[in-house]
Amino acid sequence: MPNLEFLYTFNYDYHLDALCKLESRQIFDKEEKDKLLFSPFKIDPSISAFIKTRLEIIASSENYSELLEKIKKENIYVEGFTAEYLILDGDSRDRTERRKKLKDVGFCIEGIPNFTTPSITYAICQYEDVWYFGILTKHHNDWHKHKKKPHSFSNSIGMDVAKSLVCNASQGNKSTTLLDACCGVGTVLLEACIAGFNIAGCDIDFNATKYTKQNLTYYNYTADVHYSDIKDHNTQYDAAIVDLPYNLYSYSSDEIMANIIASTAKLTNRVVIVSISDIKAEIQKSGLKVTDYCSIVKKGKSTFTRKIWICEKESRVS
Ligand SMILES: C[S@@+](CC[C@H](N)C(=O)[O-])C[C@H]1O[C@@H](n2cnc3c(N)ncnc32)[C@H](O)[C@@H]1O
Repeated sequence: MPNLEFLYTFNYDYHLDALCKLESRQIFDKEEKDKLLFSPFKIDPSISAFIKTRLEIIASSENYSELLEKIKKENIYVEGFTAEYLILDGDSRDRTERRKKLKDVGFCIEGIPNFTTPSITYAICQYEDVWYFGILTKHHNDWHKHKKKPHSFSNSIGMDVAKSLVCNASQGNKSTTLLDACCGVGTVLLEACIAGFNIAGCDIDFNATKYTKQNLTYYNYTADVHYSDIKDHNTQYDAAIVDLPYNLYSYSSDEIMANIIASTAKLTNRVVIVSISDIKAEIQKSGLKVTDYCSIVKKGKSTFTRKIWICEKESRVS
């Protein structure tokens, strides 16, 4: 039985499987399996596009009656609580049985329940013959409102990819200062802002920075947006995100990409880069080392792949 504090559940589209696994390696040091993961790390589920719930485990047992005894021993007294049954991989109990189990749990907790506006949500679940009980924190879907941002680019990365880039760059640490070195219309900035990160944006294109500012204002977010070539920016950050310009296939474009990567590397020790071609050589030339990687296919377009590179300064990699 794993002796760990948190159980996370995940949900994602098949085409983002590799990105979810990359994110979980970066945040938790291991991959989710069967869309769930046990970890000692406490992460807010709402910072990720893929984490559905977090269960803070209070009691566990292979024996259901023993689990109920353990819950009673916790002497929980809470007004306005509710309880949910989490259906995990391999659990085929029907609705009636699940409701009965929830009732059992309810009787172990003192206080009047409130099902509509609960003060706290407990949950029960079973995975690989072990029962778990704990406090449930759910993912908030409020970031979906960014679908209606006033300005978008047809080729912009999706919101879920943008959200994951923020997670990968910050490794789930909300005090990380972030830079989006090529911010476009600000898809990444919006996801960082709603999750509570301190992020700045930079773009060489005036209209891009104007649209980013308008998108931020539309949702009442504040972030510094710089109209500048990244090579002229000189503030230091804990981590940076670079969604490289596409549609550049000439020799000079390799040079442009190499310059963007090298300029960003001067501002931080950790860079998450998005590209559509193999840029390993350019990354290495800039003094960064690729520590992790994944490739994702655009939904419905099996020929368009994006490569996501997790890079760190050579000096920080042992
Ligand atoms: C692929 S787009 C980024 C799109 C962005 N992620 C979004 O969702 O809107 C690449 C951006 O890099 C910007 N760019 C190109 N060269 C740059 C440079 N040297 N410094 C800063 N930005 C640059 C372009 O103006 C473009 O907006």
